[in-house]
Amino acid sequence: MNKKRIGVLISGRGSNMSSLIEACKHPEFPAQISVVISNRPKAAGLQIAASEGIKTVAINHRDYESRPALETDLHEALVGAGVELICNAGFLRLLTAEFVDKWHDRQLNIHPSLLPSFKGLHTHQRVLDAGVKVTGCTVHLVRTDMDAGPIIAQAAVAVEADDDANSLAARVLAAEHQLYPHALKLFVLGKAYVENEMIEMAPEPGQALVCNPRAIFSPALEKT
Ligand code: GAR
Repeated sequence: MNKKRIGVLISGRGSNMSSLIEACKHPEFPAQISVVISNRPKAAGLQIAASEGIKTVAINHRDYESRPALETDLHEALVGAGVELICNAGFLRLLTAEFVDKWHDRQLNIHPSLLPSFKGLHTHQRVLDAGVKVTGCTVHLVRTDMDAGPIIAQAAVAVEADDDANSLAARVLAAEHQLYPHALKLFVLGKAYVENEMIEMAPEPGQALVCNPRAIFSPALEKT
């Protein structure tokens, strides 16, 4: 199988990266991770990736005077590793329009809310403060605006009466770990594709909606 070469961008612990690494271990999964890049040299995720035998690169944002200068090195590291598609996985740096345009329709992001609601940081506390009863996570294509772009897939997670930001974050994170490999697979296989800045889904015979008590996935989730 001709596997799509993925570059994963992280800033921290890299649990979503780990879920992608695990998915890529399956022989039939249509992607492989060529490089993991962090803007924080001490990100725990870098060590995890290295221990899996994956090439890692640290591009410390503190070493750069400007965003474009950092992005030049970032772009070169990605191209040098043969990356065809970027997956942002807890990458907490804003990217310029120039970089985003270079990777147009070739960069995915995961965000821990049901976009377009609750973009940005401190998502779960803001969800609780707003009193919403359902939250979740979103995988989308990256556009210049933060946490915006065509939505590939979402998972809904119920907000419980006794939740605090930590308990809610933990349940949403568990849904993220299922959603990201699922969305990546759909996109790489062309089952989810962009048309007029919306994601269209190629219908698949036999696809079933899988629900569990904690998360409801959209679109239809294949059994993996
Ligand atoms: C995840 O919850 C991810 O959705 C979020 O950062 C966390 C990273 O965790 N990303 C954003 O908020 C992007 N706007 P991880 O390092 O364990 O994957």
